[in-house]
Amino acid sequence: MKRIQIINGPNLNLLGKREPTVYGNQSFGAYFQELSSLFPEAQLEYFQSNSEGTIIDKLHETGFAFDGIILNGGAYTHTSIAIADAIRAITVPVVEVHISNVFQREEYRHHSFLSEACKGCIVGFGLDSYRLAIEAIIRF
Ligand code: DQA
Repeated sequence: MKRIQIINGPNLNLLGKREPTVYGNQSFGAYFQELSSLFPEAQLEYFQSNSEGTIIDKLHETGFAFDGIILNGGAYTHTSIAIADAIRAITVPVVEVHISNVFQREEYRHHSFLSEACKGCIVGFGLDSYRLAIEAIIRF
């Protein structure tokens, strides 16, 4: 059974309420239940934090034990060399995901410090980006 850790960064606790035209109407809790039932052969864990250091701690904690990590770094994607270094420091492959197509948005969202350290990136498919990332990890 594949063990997969999902890590969501800042403001993603507000999914369903936050800018619904960009991020949709569904809470991540409700979506996570759907995901878990779609992949009974995988063990999915979900973690969210608004703090950069806590996200780094979670990467350290899970980054040597799981089969894959799905990371939506939120706005830290565009600012955090520290999270990029944490991804490089661990051995578990990390898939970067974004709900929105960041390349269709403001220019400051076009650069990710994380992408270079990640195994791959899935961007712009709404919450379905997470399902696609799980499909990828199952095929690693
Ligand atoms: C996001 C895109 C980021 O630019 C933004 O700061 C987020 C969400 C996404 O999933 O589309 O918080 O990571």
